[in-house]
Amino acid sequence: MDILTTVNDLREAIRARRTYLKRIGFVPTMGYLHAGHEALMRQAKEECDLVVASIFVNPTQFGPAEDLEKYPRDLARDSELCARAGVDFLFHPDARDMYPLGSSTWVDVDGLTAIACGAARPGHFRGVCTVCAKLFNIVRPDRAYFGEKDFQQLMVIKRMVRDLFMPLTIVGVPTVREPDGLAMSSRNSYLSLSERQAARVVPKTLQRAREMIDAGEHEGAAITAAIEELVAAQPLAKLQYAVIVDPDTLTPMRALTHEARLLVAIFVGATRLIDNCALVPKAVAPPA
Ligand code: PAJ
Repeated sequence: MDILTTVNDLREAIRARRTYLKRIGFVPTMGYLHAGHEALMRQAKEECDLVVASIFVNPTQFGPAEDLEKYPRDLARDSELCARAGVDFLFHPDARDMYPLGSSTWVDVDGLTAIACGAARPGHFRGVCTVCAKLFNIVRPDRAYFGEKDFQQLMVIKRMVRDLFMPLTIVGVPTVREPDGLAMSSRNSYLSLSERQAARVVPKTLQRAREMIDAGEHEGAAITAAIEELVAAQPLAKLQYAVIVDPDTLTPMRALTHEARLLVAIFVGATRLIDNCALVPKAVAPPA
């Protein structure tokens, strides 16, 4: 595996290997890699001839009061994981290379970003879309892999690619979880022991919602109320949002008339954790 640190070096390395027969897979990340990232890389390896991964803690997607400075970093360990997963080129640029002086172009996806993380983190998706558009233009992959863990991000990137006629396919990969159900995340490393225990409430909210659906509940408000109660009972946790949305448009759904997506964001101590799952309602009996 080669590690490239400038846009030009990566472009040159890919140019030398690209043929029209080769399928290029791309996995963008912010590093501090875990089995979730690895699943993306392994799927890319299975489906593509050349795999490029990037590690870049993208400053433009962090708000002023967020964790940009303390975001965990460990390039040595990350490059071992990438090499094991079959990555051919690891791109690790610095911010001046990705945002040269005078950069003034941004990519905004409207609508889908109005709720959930888009509402809670103003400017976040603008930063995500802009950096992904840049990375897609540098790598020119045939397929790029994103985790369902960040479901809204996956949908926003799919919409950007569709709207701007970007010539690649976005592939969604299921969430990889710890044995107790907590979704793997680089930010889990912020949790103290007691917070890590408390964080189990996050997957429990999804489980509770699915149980209610299985028991025949069709009212979104009843489900979100049960989630509020569950989180309120955990002293270290604070609910930021729990919303039930249409999985394609991300518009809120009041009644679960068809498959929906539940999105939650919960603070455990100072650490913000997000998770989501599909909610598939029981078929409503047709009127007699
Ligand atoms: P990061 O949080 O490092 O995540 C990189 C990719 O890994 C994302 O597509 C994310 O959804 C996926 N991922 C993270 N945890 C996962 C898990 N437990 N299971 C499956 N996939 C998981 O998301 C970002 O970085 C950035 O916003 C980025 C897209 C790189 C743009 O800067």
